[in-house]
Amino acid sequence: MLYSEKVMDHFRNPRNVGKIEDADGVGEVGNVVCGDIMRIYLKVENNIITDIKFNTFGCGSAIASSSMATELIKGKPISEALQLTNRAVVEALDGLPVHKIHCSVLAEEAVQAAVKDYYDRHGISYDPLAFAIGCSACEHTCEEELA
Ligand code: FES
Repeated sequence: MLYSEKVMDHFRNPRNVGKIEDADGVGEVGNVVCGDIMRIYLKVENNIITDIKFNTFGCGSAIASSSMATELIKGKPISEALQLTNRAVVEALDGLPVHKIHCSVLAEEAVQAAVKDYYDRHGISYDPLAFAIGCSACEHTCEEELA
């Protein structure tokens, strides 16, 4: 089968879908090639992600990736969310087809964008290199992402 049962489950029954009106951080990213857009909302108390929601206008793998990403970081310290990699999302989903790996990259980037927004809004200083947003800091090549 092309997609694992976990991918199908998170695609059919995505966790944490929606919007947080009074979010402490919001991240929106898009993929210029496929045109998909992902938005993640964070609620943070005492440095813990107490609530997280997402909206994804994109493919099934992007929906499954964002659903899994939110599950992986909900209840975790905000600093741990920054360590979430697309690889961890793919592993938790029991794999994605190679041409769908970029969908999981979108989830990683959306989480990072939301954390960055949280830090910016609250005047919390951070090491810009901790964020893989933008090609220069990113460990994978665009060719790999879009393969
Ligand atoms: Fe664009 Fe999946 S095809 S995120």
